[in-house]
Amino acid sequence: DWNSGNVIAEQVAKIRAQVGTGKVICGLSGGVDSAVAAALVHKAIGDQLVCVFVDHGLLREDERRQVEEDYVKATGIRLVTVDVREQFLTALEGVSDPETKRKIIGREFIRTFEQAQAELIKEAAETDGDPIAFLVQGTLYPDVVESGGGSGTANIKSHHNVGGLPEDLQFELVEPLRTLFKDEVRAIGAELGLPDEIVQRQPFPGPGLGIRIVGSITQERLDLLRQADAIVRFELTAAGLDREIWQCPVVLLADVRSVGVQGDGRTYGHPIVLRPVSSEDAMTADWTRLPYDLLAKISNRITNEVDGVNRVVLDVTSKPPGTIEWE
Ligand code: XMP
Repeated sequence: DWNSGNVIAEQVAKIRAQVGTGKVICGLSGGVDSAVAAALVHKAIGDQLVCVFVDHGLLREDERRQVEEDYVKATGIRLVTVDVREQFLTALEGVSDPETKRKIIGREFIRTFEQAQAELIKEAAETDGDPIAFLVQGTLYPDVVESGGGSGTANIKSHHNVGGLPEDLQFELVEPLRTLFKDEVRAIGAELGLPDEIVQRQPFPGPGLGIRIVGSITQERLDLLRQADAIVRFELTAAGLDREIWQCPVVLLADVRSVGVQGDGRTYGHPIVLRPVSSEDAMTADWTRLPYDLLAKISNRITNEVDGVNRVVLDVTSKPPGTIEWE
């Protein structure tokens, strides 16, 4: 039967056998999956691992600081941050098709790692010259199944950490969480001594806010969505609901506008969708019955504080038929 200590010992041995004395690179997304995957690999091979945090501009408020300060303090992992916000905005310009967005983001992500790798190799050459040949990914079992990598399941969405990888990928993948569900990953994180703040963090998709803007991605839209998302997260935390809900995507319907009235004027703004869900493993989900008073507070704050948003709507669809994310 399942025991986090056994899984850790098993994975540590497996990682050591796979990489030997090789150098390993790991992307941290700010989420629990990559954080636990990196901590496992760090336990197995220590400073043969270097982590890269990509600021692609699709992050939520405060996420970069949380990784650079809190996670590094907790683990002692070596971290390099790459700022590619401009590059991502350019690559995504004018793109509104969800699958195309996902593929572009996946491709740019890997490219960014290859650039980071090249720089780290140059640096390593001055010491022992070993190339970085391995890439850690926090791929979970549900990601594998939904991307068609499981038992012949049809492709539903190309998760950016499974599908959408370029043909010329030059890393061997290390995926220590590939057979695990989310609750198991959290148990392992706790067993590894990661702080609660990281272990209990709600999932956030690799493509970030990029797949929460229905329509094309611009700086202005990202800023608007980031502001709305921060309000929602603040209020859910203040209400003590973080453990009760699985996650709450906040979605900007950038291609939709509706008429409103605010102050003494007519507005013609965008709707923000709240998508609070309850789930065990993200394979299925139900919409969370949030208290009406909380919904009212969130709605008031968003329409008052976020310029360009004049309507807040609630998604009351389970999964299936809806997926958790809108794209
Ligand atoms: P869906 O929308 O497929 O989401 O019901 C299921 C879970 O997966 C997250 N998600 C992703 N995670 N890369 C990730 O690492 C992705 O491309 C991706 N897309 C969706 C989503 O937030 C939910 O928790």
